[in-house]
Amino acid sequence: MTEAILLVGGKGTRLRPLTARTPKPMVPAAGVPFLTHQLARARAAGVEHIVLATSYLAEVFEPYFGDGSSLGLSLEYVTERDPLGTGGAIRNVASRLDSGPDDPVLIFNGDILTGLDIRALVRTHASSGADVSLHLTRVEDPRAFGLVPTDANGRVTAFLEKPQTPEEIVTDQINAGAYVFRRSVIDSIPEGRPVSVERETFPDLLAAGAHLQGMVDSTYWLDLGTPQAFVRGSADLVLGRAPSPAVPGQCGERLILPTATVAPDAKLTGGTVIGPSARIGEGARIAGSAILDGAIVEPGAVITNSLIGAGARVGERAVLSDTVVGDGAVVGADNELRQGVRVWCDAVLPAGAVRFSSDV
Ligand code: GTP
Repeated sequence: MTEAILLVGGKGTRLRPLTARTPKPMVPAAGVPFLTHQLARARAAGVEHIVLATSYLAEVFEPYFGDGSSLGLSLEYVTERDPLGTGGAIRNVASRLDSGPDDPVLIFNGDILTGLDIRALVRTHASSGADVSLHLTRVEDPRAFGLVPTDANGRVTAFLEKPQTPEEIVTDQINAGAYVFRRSVIDSIPEGRPVSVERETFPDLLAAGAHLQGMVDSTYWLDLGTPQAFVRGSADLVLGRAPSPAVPGQCGERLILPTATVAPDAKLTGGTVIGPSARIGEGARIAGSAILDGAIVEPGAVITNSLIGAGARVGERAVLSDTVVGDGAVVGADNELRQGVRVWCDAVLPAGAVRFSSDV
């Protein structure tokens, strides 16, 4: 069966402070480290051997996932001493692959939540005879992405930088972060130096006449690179909009992990998850949010589309929307935080310190 490489070594700078102490793939989404969902989906598609390419905070992966047997997988870990970029990381794990030169190898970015039909991508790769096959997804506003146009047969014709003018938006297809490589192509990536698969390997292969095949699959797709997207992804997993065999409970409006305590009149909606040992006080209203392990939400707090880090505390009547509170931080009573505010790990906001509206 096809084996896979998972790229999990990035610094996750756009997600800070969530990634200050935890690498992005280990931040909990719907109650378990996000990576669990990807591993479980790969396993469900028949993948058995996965090599994790780690770098930033590499030491936390193996103690949690071990040899992978609890997920029915055989996992290996390879750590870069200095980050090698996406292409360099792929090359760096090549010696751990069992595949022969013409065999397909799956490669996944470690921060994509998607309902991609993984088997269909492998089938497309086999039937097209491509050197590399890419999952492409369509987006409404392609301006923030590099574009990947294809011809009538799905063959990639170009890799275009982020479009600057309307004329440059020649397609709404973008690289969705899942690939199948012919094994020998992995071996041809330069060794021992940083390489970007998106900016160097793919354009170079195309220029050299290689066959790169695109497969447009428009099921659920979300890049969890930003706090807003991460919170959305967690809620979609809880709601069952994003498919994962690893959600630890039944999908629905809320997911409460077994050791959490929630006041009977607290209102939890919109895919909210309450992590292990977290405590939610009377009358709190929490919508579309993730409350991580051991966090405390005091009575009357109102939290919408936000993430409250491990061990953090949100005081009475505080109102938070589109906000991230870092691990161990304290948001005192009656604060009002909105629109992308990031409270750093262990920061302490005194009661009533920040408001968006008048206090009367
Ligand atoms: P930002 O810093 O917020 O852009 O996030 P990131 O570091 O995760 O970068 P990006 O989203 O572009 O990375 C795409 C995928 O490749 C993610 O799954 C990263 O973990 C992974 N990745 C990025 N750079 C490296 C690297 O140098 N080594 C390894 N092993 N993985 C990487």
